[in-house]
Amino acid sequence: MCGIVGYIGGSNAVNAVVEGLHRLEYRGYDSAGITFLEDRELKTIKDKGRVAHLVDMIPPEIFSEVAIGHTRWATHGKPSHENAHPHHDCGGTISVVHNGIIENYILLKELLIKEGHKFVSETDTEVIAHLIEKYYEGSIVLEQAVKMAIDSLEGTYGLVVLSSKEPDKIIAARRASPIILGVGDKENFVASDATAIVKYTKKIIYLEDGELAVLTRNDIRIFNQRNIKVDKKISSITWDEKHTSKDGYPHFMLKEIHEQPGSFHNTLAGHIDAEEGTAHLGGMDNLFPGNSIHRIRRIVILGCGTSWHAGLLGEYYLERLTGIPTEVEYASEFRYRTPSIDEDTFVIALSQSGETADTMAAIKEAKNRGAKVFGIVNVIGSSVSREVNQGLYIHVGPEIGVASTKAFLSQAAALFLIALYIGRKKIVSYKEGMEYIAELEKLEDKLRAVLAGTEKKVKELAEKYASYPSFLYLGRGLNFPIALEGALKLKEISYIHAEGYPAGEMKHGPIALIDKNFPAFFVAPGDEIFEKSLSNIQEIKARDGKIIILTDEGSVIPEKLADDIIRIPATIEVFYPFLEIIPLQLFAYYIAVKKDRDVDKPRNLAKSVTVE
Ligand code: G6P
Repeated sequence: MCGIVGYIGGSNAVNAVVEGLHRLEYRGYDSAGITFLEDRELKTIKDKGRVAHLVDMIPPEIFSEVAIGHTRWATHGKPSHENAHPHHDCGGTISVVHNGIIENYILLKELLIKEGHKFVSETDTEVIAHLIEKYYEGSIVLEQAVKMAIDSLEGTYGLVVLSSKEPDKIIAARRASPIILGVGDKENFVASDATAIVKYTKKIIYLEDGELAVLTRNDIRIFNQRNIKVDKKISSITWDEKHTSKDGYPHFMLKEIHEQPGSFHNTLAGHIDAEEGTAHLGGMDNLFPGNSIHRIRRIVILGCGTSWHAGLLGEYYLERLTGIPTEVEYASEFRYRTPSIDEDTFVIALSQSGETADTMAAIKEAKNRGAKVFGIVNVIGSSVSREVNQGLYIHVGPEIGVASTKAFLSQAAALFLIALYIGRKKIVSYKEGMEYIAELEKLEDKLRAVLAGTEKKVKELAEKYASYPSFLYLGRGLNFPIALEGALKLKEISYIHAEGYPAGEMKHGPIALIDKNFPAFFVAPGDEIFEKSLSNIQEIKARDGKIIILTDEGSVIPEKLADDIIRIPATIEVFYPFLEIIPLQLFAYYIAVKKDRDVDKPRNLAKSVTVE
């Protein structure tokens, strides 16, 4: 989704901002733009299209010691030159880039037009530039004008402002849309995401909601909502540059699929208690001191997209291992119902990016109602990680491909750890706990075996099936969330219609779609409902549907039932989803490649969705 980057210092700001914009490309966007200083005036270059197109428009000899840039993901107004950021005031002396949504922009725009301001775009952002212009007069300095402008705004913003009247400073402000500041040596940075500036500095300050920052090349001053100067902690981010390169793979997505044995290992590291057959979770110890875990009456899991699918696996794990009623909610729906949440409800929020606006809003709602909220997050220091009461990082490293892969597997693993942690205090015996741990410890090798054993076959199948217009993904029990996630991967990156369905429910509707042109992908390992899955497969077979079955190496599939079979190593029932997801990710990937899609940056999608 929208990305922001800004630089002030002695080097060429244009190069630093362009580099930052390239690094933000993974978030998904449709337009890009930059403002820098040329002969003491602001010069803005922007257009719809990729950052590479923007770079072609920037004269190569340009040198400026200050610049701000933006990648836009359209919300208000279609992708176009006019709607791309940065936006300006009437006089062209103020330049603004903005993430988030200004909810009262129509009202503000009408007022400003009455006062004589001229608008050139359809965006909500442009009102901010004109509001600043309105207040920026006499002895008022830029940060004061920005503060006066944001006090009139309703909605959310991560905001960066530059003025040709005071080109020795950049102003940044935040309300519910992330802004981080990068501290350099005689240079400073601002961005919506650490990825943009990590090449230049690892010293980061996280701006909190309501704060406003004034960056010059020599210092950073931060003020809270009441205009009082605050001292902020500088955090160090550890970052392996290897994570932000493709490391020889043609796409980040393929690289990230292959990283899964290692990233799964990182998620579990330090959390396995092989003596007691349980999980070590410091965050859970803090959240539930003494015997207070026994007060949990209900568990609610919140997330969006792939994180929601991981949540569905968590529902199975938590109900099975703890006996506590558990529900999974779309974060975007949660606030608009009347959720029955109280202090005996344990809420788990899942977010890879830690910036998803819907998930943040749902967490705040749950906390308001007295629930304890535990976060499962990947991005360290992200908004979700700071909002929740306690949490667990999955430590999979940056996930650059828009379609989530390694984060899903590790979110599922983290949910299993929580289920085991609570379960061992309730209904899971020592022996059972030890069996889970013993198998968990074998899974890294089994994940490697899945990659080694299925990729070639899956690639061949992708070639065979790439021209089909629709797919049905089916599974029962724990395999149902995997069917949903497999279908989501296919539609996200190949733009083929795909639906995930519980296999037993198929006969109540989707079976009407089945014919020889509508393949069904069954996720059916040798678990306790394998025989029932076989019956569902027979139902498709009887209607001439094409059938692909994903099963384990030992299960016997009746002859001629399947058109194609993919086999993975055997494991215990609860862990099949971890192994199953890899061939489904690869299937979607190779079909998308065959169809020549932009695998890492699929159309219309954003990696980090910071608007509700
Ligand atoms: C976007 C991404 C999805 C992701 C979802 C939730 O829609 O395109 O891949 O699953 O957001 O993201 P989160 O960062 O909260 O897990």
